[in-house]
Amino acid sequence: MLQKATAEAKSNIAFIKYWGNRDAAQRVPLNDSISMNLDHATTTTTVEFDARLNEDQIVLGDAEAQDAAARRVVAQLDRVRARAKTETKTRVESRNSFPTGVGIASSASGFAALTLAATRAISLELNERELSILARQASGSACRSIPAGFVEWIAGSSSAESYAVSIAPPEHWDLRDVIAIVSAEEKRVGSTAGHAVAATSPFLAARVSALPPRFHRVRRAVLAKDLTLLGPALEEDAIELHLIAMTSRPPIFYWTPGMVRVIQAMQRWRADGLAVYFTLDAGPNVHLICESKDADQVATLARAMPDVQRVIVNAPGGAARIVEETPENRTLTNADEH
Ligand code: DP6
Repeated sequence: MLQKATAEAKSNIAFIKYWGNRDAAQRVPLNDSISMNLDHATTTTTVEFDARLNEDQIVLGDAEAQDAAARRVVAQLDRVRARAKTETKTRVESRNSFPTGVGIASSASGFAALTLAATRAISLELNERELSILARQASGSACRSIPAGFVEWIAGSSSAESYAVSIAPPEHWDLRDVIAIVSAEEKRVGSTAGHAVAATSPFLAARVSALPPRFHRVRRAVLAKDLTLLGPALEEDAIELHLIAMTSRPPIFYWTPGMVRVIQAMQRWRADGLAVYFTLDAGPNVHLICESKDADQVATLARAMPDVQRVIVNAPGGAARIVEETPENRTLTNADEH
């Protein structure tokens, strides 16, 4: 008996970062965050519940998922099974549109797509808020890949209050994230490990208490489509995330010489009149934020740098969505449950 659905979700880039949890097990964050979905960083995931299986079969890209990566997917499937009151195992196939191993975060798009595909395959009727909460439990930033366009994640003080909502649709603002993929010179420390040690930084409390005005500035800038208001605030926030990481115990250095060279080149481009600002994730790449009219020039300049392996230009992306499901899903679920 097959119950199957395919979903796709976009990754997102945070303008105000999620860094540190109030409740690590549930991934209830310390602060509100804001992001934009990325239309060229998509994960497409098919989940098929199959009563003949004895264990979950999980294929990520071309390879079977191993160890911690497999356990994290199974843990999310277990949350879905608990809600659907089923023990049926699944076959999961997931693929990214962007190259793996280049440091683009795939947990946001990956767990958003997995959550939507799995819940739909087993015919759970969840609204956007419930999906966002469920995706958040697998990876915090995944909750922001459920709604469309420009998204805010309301931190809340408990799991039920911590979810993301769209503040503007993708077509609201023709912004671009020109991702400069810089050669990874160091092995990446996962975000989960970074969140876990964030509170050991003596500066975390200062960040959290100083954040609300910056959050509101970024929110206002997005709503007003004001890049000169957004840019300095998003740079401050990216630098601060890395300040917390570098001053955690043990310290985490995501910065590499290549990244710094790209940032400094971008500062020169801006001094020469190009409206472009940077942000960073917990990885080696530089996200160059500009308006669509300047994106070609930014991409050309970035591509010309020896430190840049490749460039991926992203417009604002849509919500997570179902791309295919078996028509008989509902009937099968009812039969299964009774
Ligand atoms: C730097 O959502 O990847 O990208 O909840 O442990 O999966 P987990 O962490 P994750 O953290 C994202 C950190 C960030 C900033 C952001 O996207 O807000």
